[in-house]
Amino acid sequence: MSNSELPFIRDMFDTIAHRYDFLNRTLSMKRDVYWRREMVKALNLKKGQHGDVLDVACGTGDVALEAFDQCGKAIGITGMDFSQNMLILAKEKIKQKKARTISLLAGNALCLPFGKEQFDAVTIAFGIRNIGDKKGALEEFWRCMKPGGTLAVLELSTPENRFFHALYMAYFTKILPFVGGFFSDNQSAYQYLPESVIRFPDSETFAGIMQSAGFREVHWKKMTLGIVTLYTGEK
Ligand SMILES: C[S@@+](CC[C@H](N)C(=O)[O-])C[C@H]1O[C@@H](n2cnc3c(N)ncnc32)[C@H](O)[C@@H]1O
Repeated sequence: MSNSELPFIRDMFDTIAHRYDFLNRTLSMKRDVYWRREMVKALNLKKGQHGDVLDVACGTGDVALEAFDQCGKAIGITGMDFSQNMLILAKEKIKQKKARTISLLAGNALCLPFGKEQFDAVTIAFGIRNIGDKKGALEEFWRCMKPGGTLAVLELSTPENRFFHALYMAYFTKILPFVGGFFSDNQSAYQYLPESVIRFPDSETFAGIMQSAGFREVHWKKMTLGIVTLYTGEK
């Protein structure tokens, strides 16, 4: 996928935004909440600790809100996304929760509107697979992070067990596009979803891309039978 496809991706998320949270919870049977929780835990930010977290491709704000819950008000959280409709929903959820330490910004992950070494941690959940130039985006995250900072990347993956793989692929390529398309009125978005996951590099290859972008101590952890992988790396 080339970066010329970015407008297509942005328009797609703008179209499905109003159904995004509902479909996330339904299609993942609420596991998405647990996955984001584990990602924020992996940042090792203690409650009351001061610092700044950037959540790239923040969508409707769930990672930012999870960070707010886990870390408290001492942490400044910036959520950034290029879909205005996603940001509108994020703003509403943040307002309802009175999470005043979260700020939102429109922007592209490939060209972050921040100076270097600004953040103690950077997160991206289910966003990196939509970005063609993954190394370019990871280099941008690296640039904005303070030395010693942690990057956490959460992404969908396919199970390694052959039996479960076959079962999951049937669900993922047949049932999910149908249910997603029906509720979001955007069939192509939920057809694109399995395609983008199948195209995503395997864990070892992606960890290698993280390393080539400058990250060290790169590790990954498979969750829920391997349908999601959490990668971490340090600057
Ligand atoms: C699958 S959603 C994930 C949203 C959120 N992180 C979550 O955990 O639910 C992917 C998000 O990435 C955003 N996105 C994709 N490519 C992007 C880019 N190049 N720059 C900024 N945002 C991007 C989309 O607009 C969308 O909101």
